[in-house]
Amino acid sequence: MMIPRLDETAIKLAPSILSADVARLAEQVGEAEQGGADRIHVDVMDGHFVPNLTFGPVIVKWLRPVTRLPLEVHLMIDNPDQFLEAFAEAGANTLIVHQEGGIHLNRTVQQIKALGRRAGVAINPATPAGMLEEILPDLDLVLVMTVNPGFGGQRFLAGTLPKIRTIRQMIDSLGTNCELEVDGGIDHKTAPLVVEAGARVLVAGFSIYGATDGVAAAMDRLRDLGGVR
Ligand code: DX5
Ligand code: ZN
Repeated sequence: MMIPRLDETAIKLAPSILSADVARLAEQVGEAEQGGADRIHVDVMDGHFVPNLTFGPVIVKWLRPVTRLPLEVHLMIDNPDQFLEAFAEAGANTLIVHQEGGIHLNRTVQQIKALGRRAGVAINPATPAGMLEEILPDLDLVLVMTVNPGFGGQRFLAGTLPKIRTIRQMIDSLGTNCELEVDGGIDHKTAPLVVEAGARVLVAGFSIYGATDGVAAAMDRLRDLGGVR
């Protein structure tokens, strides 16, 4: 198979603060910014949609003045509509809702756009690509979960690779600027696989903030795509 040579600058990194040292969050976000992060990924969990609790809008509000990077908020919550405005007002640039998180996805996406924010939709590992077909023309971003959401540091699910390929083709044939992002278990070994499948934005938590040699070194490792380049 012909593997395209990719410019490493075409790959965007979105460090997830889920694995950061939250006691020194501003510093940790600064390290990601200096390491060349494209955006900061904020994981919001409600204890219902996923079996874990994390951040609310107030964290976004406090983060907003400490970084120039866009903040993307990944809402792993049921009925996200009720919190869109609060996160937008707190300073989120992109709001990502789950396809599985509500019933009226089109309305939710239109609400995000009406708030003047970029609209993303995430899908769980067991959700087929086809579930995005009708909403895709309206999206700025698709987030393919490469683990079951809820926790950082889980093992990458290789069974999601064909779906990444399918969604890449769907976006390319539409010809829109929709970004294709992946989230979960992304490290220097799995990054080349997802990029080869068509992902261009990589969320990474544990492989960046859990690295013993620091955030910048970990980000360099993620950008080194080995065989893909
Ligand atoms: C998982 C979250 C992820 C998480 C990824 O439910 O949505 O964003 O931070 O963490 P890693 O990169 O450690 O798998
Ligand atoms: Zn996430």
